[in-house]
Amino acid sequence: MTYILRLDTSPRGINSISRRLADKVQDHLLSLTPSLALRVRDLSSAELPHISEDTISGFYAEPQAMTDKLQAATALSDELIAELNGANSLIISAPIYNFGVPSSLKAWIDQIVRINQTFSFDGHSFTGLVPFNKAVLVLSYGANGYTNNGDLASMDFLGPYLISLLQFLGIDDVRTIQIEGTTGDPDLLNDAMLQASNSVSRLFIEENK
Ligand SMILES: Cc1cc2nc3c(=O)[nH]c(=O)nc-3n(C[C@H](O)[C@H](O)[C@H](O)COP(=O)(O)O)c2cc1C
Repeated sequence: MTYILRLDTSPRGINSISRRLADKVQDHLLSLTPSLALRVRDLSSAELPHISEDTISGFYAEPQAMTDKLQAATALSDELIAELNGANSLIISAPIYNFGVPSSLKAWIDQIVRINQTFSFDGHSFTGLVPFNKAVLVLSYGANGYTNNGDLASMDFLGPYLISLLQFLGIDDVRTIQIEGTTGDPDLLNDAMLQASNSVSRLFIEENK
């Protein structure tokens, strides 16, 4: 049975706003396609190792040059890529950390972006090889000003980066649920949660009519 792959990154458990919104996205996607299963990977609690020199050598080695050492160094990447390629769609929930992706998510990215596995290069251009095309990013920002061309828009290295990266891998249809001002006024945050939840309920509705 094919599944939605969900990656969570906030270490804040049930207090996490990005996770709470991702729960809604998950429920919504499962209600649109009840035959789908769900696979969740919590990147904040089961931290992935950074890639090593051997991992990089293994990524670029010809099959006949794969020693036991290189195989061991790329085994986790193999597993994560198989998990990604087996999915029907992807949900990533992430807070902005220091204007970019949490390092737990970056560790996953460094393991799965791999030549001839998730992208190829023919000497002129790159082609994404991930075999499904839908993803939802659920992104939370402590400050206001990232959306609608606000003061902080040029400092958003989370959303634009993840969209470009997923598209590079061949996942063309990337939707984003964003919530900002999460560390500000609680009343405004409630309003923002409501608005974000409404956006969730509209996701992929047109395609399912
Ligand atoms: C280490 C750290 C770095 C952060 N950096 C930023 C930042 O660059 N910009 C911002 O708007 N908020 C920043 N925040 C606030 C979080 O992005 C915000 O609280 C977010 O809603 C947390 O998501 P969560 O509730 O899912 O954990 C930072 C928080 C932490 C803990």
